[in-house]
This record gives sequence, C-alpha cells and structure tokens, in this order.
Amino acid sequence: MKISGRTFVVSGGASGLGRACVRDICAAGGNAVILDMNEELGPALVHELGPSRAQFLVCDVADTASIASAVQATVAWTTATGKPLGGIIPAAGVGHPGLILDKALRPVSLESVDFVLSINLRGTLDLVRQFLPHLAATTPVGADGERGVVVMVASAAAFEGQMGQVAYAASKGAVAAMTLPMARDLSRFGIRVVTIAPSMFDSNMTAGMSDKVRAGLKKAMEFPVRAGKPEEFASLVRQSIENVMLNGVVIRLDGATRMPSKL
Ligand SMILES: NC(=O)c1ccc[n+]([C@@H]2O[C@H](COP(=O)([O-])OP(=O)(O)OC[C@H]3O[C@@H](n4cnc5c(N)ncnc54)[C@H](O)[C@@H]3O)[C@@H](O)[C@H]2O)c1
Repeated sequence: MKISGRTFVVSGGASGLGRACVRDICAAGGNAVILDMNEELGPALVHELGPSRAQFLVCDVADTASIASAVQATVAWTTATGKPLGGIIPAAGVGHPGLILDKALRPVSLESVDFVLSINLRGTLDLVRQFLPHLAATTPVGADGERGVVVMVASAAAFEGQMGQVAYAASKGAVAAMTLPMARDLSRFGIRVVTIAPSMFDSNMTAGMSDKVRAGLKKAMEFPVRAGKPEEFASLVRQSIENVMLNGVVIRLDGATRMPSKL
C-alpha cells in the first residue's frame, strides 16, 4: 500500500506515538486526519504540516457520536482532496493505573476500569468499525487489490502487565486478541490488520514517570537501554502500511525488554 496520495486517520494523533505517525505519513506524501481531544497540540501540528496535508478534528473516541461526526468530516475532506482513505490508526490511549485491591482493601473502582476500557478498547474498536465501510468502498489498488490497512496499538502490558495495570493490560490484551479475527473478517475486502505492541516509548504518557520507575524499567531493558523514540514507532507503522505480507500479526517493538513483576 502506497502512502502517497492516500489519507490516513490517526486517533491520538496530536501527541506522542500518534503524532510521530502523522508527521511520517505526511513526509511520505500522504494526508493525515488527526482525531484528538487536545485542542492545543492538534492545531499546532496542522500548522506545522500545512492544512493541505493535515486536518485536525476534535474527537472523543469514547463517544460514538463524536466518531460519527469525524467520519463525516473525513469523508468530505477525502472527497475534496481526491486522496482516498488508505488506513486507520487508532493510537488514542490512556494509562490510568490502579491496583485491583489497594492496601486499604479497596477494590479498583469500576469507573476507572470503564474509563480505560472505553478509550483503549471500545474506542479503538468503534473507530475502526465506523471508518471501515468507507475504507472498504475505496477502489482496490495494486496487483493484490489492496484497499487499506488498520494499524492498532497494543502494549507490552498485553503480555506482561505490571502492578496497577489490570485495566490497562485488559484493554491492550483485547486489542492484541482482536488482530487476527479482524484480519480474517477483512481479508475479503483487501484490508489488512497489524497491531504494534510497544514497550516504554518517550511521549506525554511516560513523561510523568518518576526517576525511580524509569530506573527500574531500564534494568529490564536489553538493548538498546533507553526508551523507544516515537519516530521508531512511526517507522514500523510505515512498514505495516507498505508491506503487504504483514497481516493478522501483533509485533512487539521493545528491544527485547520483558516487563518485570516489580520495579
Ligand atoms: N508511550 C509508551 O510507552 C507506550 C507504550 C505502549 C503503548 N502505548 C500506547 O500508545 C498509544 C499512544 O500513547 P502515547 O504514549 O503517544 O501517549 P500520549 O499521551 O502522548 O498520546 C495519547 C493521545 O491520545 C489522546 N486521547 C486520549 N484520550 C482520548 C480520547 N478519549 N479521544 C481521543 N483522543 C484521546 C490524547 O489527547 C493524546 O494526544 C496509546 O494507546 C498507549 O496506550 C504507549
């Protein structure tokens, strides 16, 4: 799938890993629609890339009506630009840690569980679900008749969730588990599905980590001994878009890090 001349939708595209994807897609000649709730960073990114390359739409992926409006606006933009939809990258996500049972014997609140699941899992699934009819309606391209790609974002926590990550790990484990059935459902349309499971990457999400947590995570790293860079994530997203043999797979992007039980 060529990036050039196509439009890619990136939720959480105003910051961190999503923003790196938006920049990379635009640098490769594609257009990007940034769906995010951050009304400072989103417009700033459009200013950087230019409004003919990137559009920012305020969207809460936990709100199905908000996604529906974003779909309408995206379809209008792709019609106006003549650059059809080429992919959906649901990168919006929240950490929101919480022990299943704390020292005072209080179980995690359902509100906080619902908050994480509604953005990371339901928001991912709903975003993909609502954009898919439009991706499937594009004209197939290339010898394989490709229509597009879905690149979802899981986490190392899908496999080795740490303390306080029960809800987060549940959301990311579910995203990883959706990958193969989604690829199977979409193969008839020439749409592929790839999920990337990063370890610790530099972003707003990890910027607030204490030095103690950072030092503990470093001990779990093999090589390289550092957090991943958003550009390294974006580079794998680009490969996921361009390499037609990548499908139905969850790819760890972690420098051989395996998250320990305790830091
Ligand atoms: N940074 C890491 O170490 C790391 C590791 C593994 C997985 N991830 C995953 O990568 C994805 C991107 O995270 P990041 O590290 O770039 O974090 P980030 O905080 O820099 O970016 C997340 C973006 O999602 C947006 N967002 C949050 N809730 C939203 C909602 N309801 N609707 C729309 N947008 C919303 C935020 O405004 C923000 O711009 C997340 O799914 C995260 O779980 C990150």
